Amino acid sequence: MVTAVFPAAGSSKRMGGGVNKNLLELAGEPILLRTLKTFSKVERINFLIVVVAAHEVETVEGLMRSARGLKPWRVTVGGSERQYSIANGLKLLPDDAQIVLVHDAARPLVTVQTINEVIDAAEQFGGAIAAIPEKNTIKVIDAQGFVKYTPPRAELVSVMTPQGFRREILLRAYDKAAEENFLGTDDSSLVEQLGFRVKVVAGGYQNIKITTPEDIRIAETFLEESK
Ligand code: CTP
Ligand code: MG
Repeated sequence: MVTAVFPAAGSSKRMGGGVNKNLLELAGEPILLRTLKTFSKVERINFLIVVVAAHEVETVEGLMRSARGLKPWRVTVGGSERQYSIANGLKLLPDDAQIVLVHDAARPLVTVQTINEVIDAAEQFGGAIAAIPEKNTIKVIDAQGFVKYTPPRAELVSVMTPQGFRREILLRAYDKAAEENFLGTDDSSLVEQLGFRVKVVAGGYQNIKITTPEDIRIAETFLEESK
């Protein structure tokens, strides 16, 4: 079975407004619920773990209790970094979770197809991440703001969530990161530190992370189009 962990304990600084962006409404429904409902449509997923700030636990539990069509779930408290939030969520993994998905609550436009492809590849290869071909030219720069070099764009992908792993691999990766004080910017980077190969599967360009206020309008446009 598959369990999905949803980090939603950030401070939404770039969104502004002093509220958790995951509780903002997108076309009339809170972002977090949209995300959870899509994952709940995936048959193999049997449990959802939502990680929020301590002062939001009751609000989020209330919201989820009143929502229909969610797989069984638990809400827990996050930490000061996304990685610490997920580490806390992983403590609630049910025994029958062989595959663990991590997905930013703030990516409500993820599709059932992408989720299934990540699960399939995680089962086959041990770890898989959703990503899209990079559209921009990316440069590596130095501390003085000069270009060091330009990696070939054809080799670059822009990484999203979901990211999925066999349970033992992800738990070992999180243990090692904690021991070594390694802070990664995604889950795959922790697994890469263990030396495992991680498969890249096609994400969708619509699977944006709601980060700044414009993203709400962009996401509403995608939703409009998908009707
Ligand atoms: N997140 C988390 N715990 C943290 C930081 C982030 O659970 N300590 C979650 C966010 O709630 C979000 C996801 O990780 O769903 C991706 O992070 P990001 O988009 O950066 O959200 P915030 O950190 O809240 O936003 P900002 O960086 O603008 O403050
Ligand atoms: Mg952040």
